[in-house]
Amino acid sequence: MRIKLAPSILSADFARLGEQVRAAEEAGADYIHVDIMDGHFVPNLTMGPGVVGAVRRVTSLPLDVHLMIESPDSLLSSFVESGASTITVHQEACNVHLHYLLSKIRDMGVRAGVAVNPSTPIAVLEEVLGLADLVLVMTVNPGFGGQKMIPATIEKVRRLASLMSAQGSRAEIEVDGGITPENAGGLVAAGAQVLVAGSSVFNGQASVAENVAALRRAIEAYTC
Ligand code: DX5
Ligand code: ZN
Repeated sequence: MRIKLAPSILSADFARLGEQVRAAEEAGADYIHVDIMDGHFVPNLTMGPGVVGAVRRVTSLPLDVHLMIESPDSLLSSFVESGASTITVHQEACNVHLHYLLSKIRDMGVRAGVAVNPSTPIAVLEEVLGLADLVLVMTVNPGFGGQKMIPATIEKVRRLASLMSAQGSRAEIEVDGGITPENAGGLVAAGAQVLVAGSSVFNGQASVAENVAALRRAIEAYTC
């Protein structure tokens, strides 16, 4: 199975956003990950549907929209209209039933994702896995790019993979936060299928193309 890479534009140079998204696409990215933060659910403010729409116009890649916002229900249609391909909501942020919310996202014609923070047990997803196209295991506490991956989350990915296989779930397992060429292989070995990477793609000395290639090499070493 091809492991997917989803560069997070949170770490991109916003003054050159279109150029950086195109560089990620040319480097072989599979999704563009867009982090939406509201200053309430997480202590940071980032972007909204306008930026999703702008990114939509410069790439043909699926847009993987990660909502770190309270009450996501009221904003779903704006993100769908802006061009989101997958919309991921946090289990911890849902003020309405998760069952309802995931069904609503699918009914709007986009893929439905559900995310859990490092402190949230996987077991809370048991009853909704059948409604999810993607399950996002946060490997850092959400809010900021550039943090270190929390090692205990590797075992959590393994537990999720085994729960999903027991249920026959075909959702993708995504990991997000602190992913580098050094730890990517271990996460893939545990069952991660989509790797989100912000600073290891857009920051640092090397080009976006070189950074994506380094992640790809690290993954291939584990999947061959
Ligand atoms: C963190 C965001 C991540 C972030 C990842 O709250 O959800 O998507 O951009 O950035 P890095 O890869 O730098 O940890
Ligand atoms: Zn994210």
